[in-house]
Amino acid sequence: MNGRVVFLAVLAVVLVVGVWGWRRWHPASFWYGVEFPARVVLVYLTWAHVASGCGLARRRRRWRLTLDAVPMVETARSVTVATYRRRWRRVEVERPPRLGVLRPNRLGWRVRVRLHDGQVPGDYERAAERIAHAWRVHSVRIVDVRPGVVTLWATLHDPLTEVRVTPETGELLRVRPGKLENGADWVIDFRAVPHWLNAGATQSGKSNLANAIIKGLAPQPVALVGLDLKGGVEFTPYAPRLSALATTRTQCTALLADLVGELEHRMTICRGRGVRNIWHLPEGVRPMPIVVLVDEVAELFLMADRSEKDQVAKTGTALLRVAQLGRAFGVHLVVCGQRIGSDLGPGVTALRSQLSGRVCHRVNDPETATMTLGDLDPAALDAARTIPAQTPGVCIVAGQDGGWHRARSVYISEHEAEHAARTYAHLAPDWAELITTPAVRPAAA
Ligand SMILES: Nc1ncnc2c1ncn2[C@@H]1O[C@H](COP(=O)(O)OP(=O)(O)OP(=O)(O)O)[C@@H](O)[C@H]1O
Ligand SMILES: [Mg+2]
Repeated sequence: MNGRVVFLAVLAVVLVVGVWGWRRWHPASFWYGVEFPARVVLVYLTWAHVASGCGLARRRRRWRLTLDAVPMVETARSVTVATYRRRWRRVEVERPPRLGVLRPNRLGWRVRVRLHDGQVPGDYERAAERIAHAWRVHSVRIVDVRPGVVTLWATLHDPLTEVRVTPETGELLRVRPGKLENGADWVIDFRAVPHWLNAGATQSGKSNLANAIIKGLAPQPVALVGLDLKGGVEFTPYAPRLSALATTRTQCTALLADLVGELEHRMTICRGRGVRNIWHLPEGVRPMPIVVLVDEVAELFLMADRSEKDQVAKTGTALLRVAQLGRAFGVHLVVCGQRIGSDLGPGVTALRSQLSGRVCHRVNDPETATMTLGDLDPAALDAARTIPAQTPGVCIVAGQDGGWHRARSVYISEHEAEHAARTYAHLAPDWAELITTPAVRPAAA
């Protein structure tokens, strides 16, 4: 007897250790082999209850076979039941929306849900947090909407807690500064979305994203320009790879004037060749794309006294012109700031409307999220407002594919920044040459 108990105890210990080891050292196979099937059973068993609790089930009248008691003796005080009788009755039942097949992936699972008549995807957006709690998962998001059907995506852990560097593919003006919540690479393609607004509270990761973009573009045949109104502390590590760096408002004004001149020149080239943008020019004549990164943009618009009014107006107008003309003529903007609202002055709203790519990091007030993301899906605004301070770099991205995503930039240390800038310093065209290069100028004639 004792021997059997010992044997069973040892077996139990071996099993527990084995399962623990399996989960610890081969989490992927453990997930697909054990955890996911268990989750499937649980989700299906509890779906009716969960849907009802989240207000997604519908009350319907259905015919049901019921078992009714037939009283034999009925007095004022008691009923004596003699027998039972089966009867068809119309009763009210709760019917959950039909759940499709749970499809596992590395981070959780996806499942399609057929909407009840009268339901819209927004009902599921609003219920997503409640479903996540009921399923005991990190989050549930609506990732695909088709007529009458939504796809829910449940993730077990926040995939953005650790983001690793993604190798760049080297495609012109395309960078991968981090990861999206769905595990895909976060791609910023300046040819698809020419200008980007990068907003968020202090220490939310704006400059880190700008650094990741510079690092991604550094090996490409692209001229990089920095307008660092934080006195140059953010972009100075990249100075060797930058063709121009302005750190004061006066320098920025001069640099923006150069850019406007260059844009007018590119316009002349395109007009001369009868094309609408530089991408239709033959390669030998096509001017090099320029990406302009502006950090702490508010500094460009703030006025200590009225004497600065003219300079501010001039700078604001130049920046707006760069944004307006840049999309066709290969000059792209990444504008970073804490709050880019109309309170900064006239022209800021117009500038913002030109920046079609939007990145909203953690914000201190809901208005900044609304200002940055516009009238996007309310769930995107909620997601922006709930980014915790412990995860700098996490943001909401909108612009590339019409939808919105939670994403996180990859962390770029100062050392990495300096290394990248030194390695690709030889690719930085000289600013004076770039804006007066004979290869470009005569082509206009
Ligand atoms: N993607 C990231 N992953 C990990 N840590 C990050 C990430 N982005 C930023 N951080 C950390 O957060 C700190 C603040 O980031 P960053 O300087 O980019 O913020 P910011 O929004 O530019 O702040 P400020 O408005 O004060 O300039 C960085 O020093 C870095 O340590
Ligand atoms: Mg910063």
